[in-house]
Parts: sequence; structure tokens; C-alpha cells
Amino acid sequence: MKHKGALLTRKNLMENDHYQELFRDAFGAEFREDLPVDVYFSPGRVNIIGEHIDYNGGMVLPAALDIGIYGIAQKRSDATLQIKSNIFSSMGVLMMDGPDLEYRKEDGWVNYVKGMTKYLMDEDRQIQPMNILFVSNLPDGAGLSSSATLEILTGFMLLYENEGMNLDRVALAQTAKKMENEYIGVNCGIMDQFAVAMGRENHAVLLDTSVLSHSYIPFVLQNYSLVIAHTNKKRELNESKYNERARECQEALAILQKNIKMDNLVEAFPEQIEEFISDPILRKRALHVSRENERVIETVKYMTEGDILSVGRMLTQSHESLKNLYEVSGFELDVMVEESLQHEGCIGARMTGAGFGGCAIALVENYLVDDFMEKVSGEYEKKTGLTPHLFVARIDDGTRKLEFSQK
Ligand code: GLA
Repeated sequence: MKHKGALLTRKNLMENDHYQELFRDAFGAEFREDLPVDVYFSPGRVNIIGEHIDYNGGMVLPAALDIGIYGIAQKRSDATLQIKSNIFSSMGVLMMDGPDLEYRKEDGWVNYVKGMTKYLMDEDRQIQPMNILFVSNLPDGAGLSSSATLEILTGFMLLYENEGMNLDRVALAQTAKKMENEYIGVNCGIMDQFAVAMGRENHAVLLDTSVLSHSYIPFVLQNYSLVIAHTNKKRELNESKYNERARECQEALAILQKNIKMDNLVEAFPEQIEEFISDPILRKRALHVSRENERVIETVKYMTEGDILSVGRMLTQSHESLKNLYEVSGFELDVMVEESLQHEGCIGARMTGAGFGGCAIALVENYLVDDFMEKVSGEYEKKTGLTPHLFVARIDDGTRKLEFSQK
């Protein structure tokens, strides 16, 4: 393949039918001259604020990015799904004829594709057999939700042929979350799948995870840009720590429910948490959840009022809480945030996503963005020995089929 994931852009994928060439290279003799090659795109997501509260009934504010995973595909007429990829690892070809859809750890990223196929088949959905080449420009393990991106992309592609515009995106996000919880074994909330499926260009998605209602908030930052800073620190132990946090929240909720009537941990006021939870760890976790939810509500208010300085303040407070109360940050993320805040152009910064590595975000004054990237990268590298990757976030639509003239 000509392009390694990181170099791939939409422009170079589409120009001169490059996607066709990639597909032909990957599938060789299986390429059919007489059938169109379709291209689908599924975005990564960045979470602006509302971290680790989507599995506690909280409000979250993610947005879909213009980087993500492409699915280049041709229909098949037998009952086989054949997938290849230049991403994640080189798993090569996988034939899926119904029964071979069990989870196998060694199958890596292919499990997400198998899982989605299995879950949609279990729902008796009509699936379109096809040859698919996945190509990505989403940094893997960066906390920009590559798993949800792939899950939603897979489901969308398999269903689009039969359901088209009737495809229920929210239901698809629910299936993907269920699959990730049960089949992959990560007790995630629905934020990532929802943001990927429902994103809108230049808008953040305000999602109330307790009832799954949402609205779109214009992503207007005036003289500021949202910079994403990938620490390049591998997210080790991510899954087990994630599930540990989810368990701790369940325990905290159970204690509170003995004293107060509530459905979700976000409903608890800080005073109630102080009063009823004596375990210091559980108390910290619950305090983060309660206050982070308030910060989301305040952030949306400030964004709507155009008070970007206060939005920045919310981001920084969120980071402090994730570092000290929820304890999901880490050395590299903390260095990135501290170095960001040192820069004169930065008015707020925090880790984003699950944590334990991955990305931070920073609000930076437009005319200082280049200087910010250069200085923060330099200082970060000096302190951690890792080379980071910084870029400005562009907010795009959710998963879709790309329309362009077919040859
Ligand atoms: C991961 C999960 C999400 C969410 C975030 C933390 O991205 O998939 O559901 O919990 O972590 O906010």
C-alpha cells in the first residue's frame, strides 16, 4: 500500500481514484471491474469535557473529527465478508461465514468487526456481504476512540445497502456499545459510539447519557483553536483500569442508594457524597463524577455565551479532577497539560478520553498556535523522551458514505 495510515488524507485518497488503486492492490484478482467501489468514512472523536461520566448517567460534550477510518468496499454475491487493512496490525484476510464470529484475543482489531457482524446478525438484520479494505489516519491507541470508529463504520457499511437513509444511527450506537461491553469486555459508556455515529460538522454533541437525548452546540471558539496533543504514550493497563473505575462507581452508587433515592451517580451532590461515603477512594471517584457533570453544564453555558476564557478554566479544572480524584491521568499527560498551560497562548488544557496515555487537548489563541506546538512539543520531548504529535482539531460529520462520481 502506498500510504501508511498517518500520511493518508481525504484528498490523496480520493484524487485520481487512488482509493480504487488501494482496493485493487489489496484484493488483486477479487477486484471486479464491473462493480463500483464505495468509500465510507467514520470519524474519530475528541471529548471536549465530561470525562468518565458517560457510564454514570452524566452529560458529555464530544465532537467528531475529520480524521478517522475509511472503509473501501465492493459488494460480494456470496455470504462472505472479507476484510483487509493497513491499520492496527496486518491481520490480512479474514473469511466470515456465519459461525466463525467468536472472540479470539489474538485476532486483535478484527474482533471489533467480528463482534459487530455477530451482534447485527443476532438482531436478524440483513447484512450486505462485501470485500472491505480499512485504511486509517487515526492514531491508534491515542484515545480518539479508534474502537468505536471501527465498530460504527463496520455496522454502517453492513447495513447501509439495505437500510440506506433509514439506518437508525442511535440504535447502531447502542448495539456497538453492547457489543463492546459484552463481547470485547470493556464496560464503556455510549459516548464514543454516539459521537462517531451522530457527529455534526462544526458542532459538539451534548449528550445526556441518562436518557440518550442530545443537542448540537455550535463549536465556535472565536480567536481560539482546539489543539489535540497525542502524547505517544501507550495506554497500558487501560482496559483493566477502566473496568476498575466503572466498578468503583457502581460501589459508590450502591452505598448512596442505601441512603438516598437515585438512579445514577451523577445525581449525588458533593455534600451527600461527603456524608455517606467513608471510603476515601470511592469518595474521590464520586466527587469527580458529580463535579465533572456540573462542569459540562457550565462549559456549554460559557460556550453559548462566547466566554471562551471560562471554557478554558473548565478544561483545566477537569484535568485536575481526573488527575487527583479519578486518578486516570499519568506522567506524560500531566507533563503535556502543564507545558501547555505554561504557554502564553493557552487558556486551558486537559487529558481527553479514557486516560492512562493517549491525548490531551488545549485551547490556544489562533495567532500563537504554531509557536505553541513548537514549544510544547520541545519541552514535552525533553521531559519524557517521547516525540508527541500536535494538530488542530477540525470538527466533522458522523459516519457516512462519501458521495463522488463513480468510474
Ligand atoms: C472511553 C470510553 C467512553 C468514556 C471515556 C471516558 O473513551 O469508551 O465510554 O467513558 O473513555 O470519558
